[in-house]
Amino acid sequence: MSDQPPSSLDTIGVVGAGAMGAGIAQSALTAGLKVILHDSSGAALERARAEVRARIGRLAEKGQITAQAAAEAEGRLTLGERLTDLAPAQIVIEAIVEQLEPKQRLFAALEDIVPADTVLATNTSSLPVSAIARACRNRERICGLHFFNPVPLMRLVEVIPAADTSERTMERALALAKRLGKTAVRVKDVPGFLVNLLGRAYLTEALHIQHEGVARVATIDRIMREAAGFRMGPFELMDLTGIDVNFPATQVVYQGFQHDPRLKTTPLHESLFMAGQLGRKSGRGFHDYREGAAAAPACGDEGSVAAPSAGPPITAWVAEEAPGFEALVQRGVKLVTANQAEAILVSPRGEDATTVAARLRLDPTRVVAVDFLGMERSFLTLMAPVGGHGAAQRLAAFLRGTGLAVAVVKDSPAFVAPRILAMVVNLACEIAQMGIGTPEDIDVAMRLAQNYPRGPFEWGEWLGPRTVHETLRQMQAVTGSDRYRPSLWLRRRALLGLSLRAPV
Ligand SMILES: NC(=O)c1ccc[n+]([C@@H]2O[C@H](COP(=O)([O-])OP(=O)(O)OC[C@H]3O[C@@H](n4cnc5c(N)ncnc54)[C@H](O)[C@@H]3O)[C@@H](O)[C@H]2O)c1
Repeated sequence: MSDQPPSSLDTIGVVGAGAMGAGIAQSALTAGLKVILHDSSGAALERARAEVRARIGRLAEKGQITAQAAAEAEGRLTLGERLTDLAPAQIVIEAIVEQLEPKQRLFAALEDIVPADTVLATNTSSLPVSAIARACRNRERICGLHFFNPVPLMRLVEVIPAADTSERTMERALALAKRLGKTAVRVKDVPGFLVNLLGRAYLTEALHIQHEGVARVATIDRIMREAAGFRMGPFELMDLTGIDVNFPATQVVYQGFQHDPRLKTTPLHESLFMAGQLGRKSGRGFHDYREGAAAAPACGDEGSVAAPSAGPPITAWVAEEAPGFEALVQRGVKLVTANQAEAILVSPRGEDATTVAARLRLDPTRVVAVDFLGMERSFLTLMAPVGGHGAAQRLAAFLRGTGLAVAVVKDSPAFVAPRILAMVVNLACEIAQMGIGTPEDIDVAMRLAQNYPRGPFEWGEWLGPRTVHETLRQMQAVTGSDRYRPSLWLRRRALLGLSLRAPV
């Protein structure tokens, strides 16, 4: 391998001039690099050039770069009609069709074209980098450089060593990511790498909540946006990325991790995929985007989320103390004895309301479980044991009258937001346990690539490692499902009262 310092990087090659290749080329051009762009389709090459020009032109119009810098950036782009045109490239990034054999053939062919010290990187999102490298003689110089769409806007890049990748190759790949203005995280060559693996928790747990009939998709989306502060609810996110993208990605990760139940999706996900209801791009997915379609009710039979109504004062008894009930008293909920109370209040961690009612021998028709996770954002979620929604609806009506947004959902272990967040934190802990990424990198990656308002470890600290651990243990006990088994990383830190970021 060459001893050239990374700063001597001058020319990169990009193979595949589709959405990703064009974006990578644009980012490299505006970072001052020369780019040789190759595609097996001449039309795709011309289209990419026109797109890159237009986008760089817009940057100049908006004053983000000077007109001269834009002209120079465009001047650094060369279209390579033959693969051999890539010979001068110091790093080649492959962004062709997502299939193993064409990628292997391409890498084997590139080996005979570029100098021995040229780094060969793949932008694959679902194939093992080591499987692509297998077709090559010199596997030390092969790595994954996983960009996110749209490349010029997305700041994260995952850099992935394959089985034989040298440290020198990793350094050069990391230096290129930095040169492009990206934040790079180094992650293991596992299905989904870091972001697409961890992203399963947010999406599939929402699907399981829907599958159990706890709440409708619009209600789940609204709770995750308004109570937890996510920019998009899980179903809105799946509709945006496309169910033709996230259903196969979920399958790759689930199969790659040998059918770990934590990564399993639900039949609705597959049936929308099979029906071609792919989300925004096809006008219909979890939500309906067709013209004239009524906005999906955010709550339906789970009860209205926000409509204020001046409910009559409600009497309540707190069966199990928990932080948060004081705030309800301040809003006018009148505390009385158990016999007189219209609502018997509990705030379980991981148990469903039915389990709490049975455990404490409470009158299930009056039990209301309250989730305070969204209280800072003036959002509460309520649920009741099976058959007992009257008291929850009355409490909801009263609290809405005091200006709170309140969702009433069907009985569920850990409501909606605490349940989804426990799964996000748990999978993040498992990823740290497997050494796929560090807690710091996991937080950075999910903030940058998925716009999470807090990284998964930040969520874990905010909720409290013991609370998350207890929530999962109860969810596992209530459902009997291994999907909810706590990660050993989480369990050990929760038991000893340590930070979730405490190293091994
Ligand atoms: N689209 C995304 O959100 C995204 C995100 C991260 C990674 N990726 C990965 O990036 C790669 C490209 O994805 P995309 O969305 O840009 O695809 P795309 O379909 O938009 O573009 C692929 C391009 O590769 C060309 N091509 C196909 N086979 C070729 C070959 N043998 N030699 C040269 N050119 C060839 C096609 O003509 C096409 O222009 C895939 O591996 C994909 O998994 C995609």
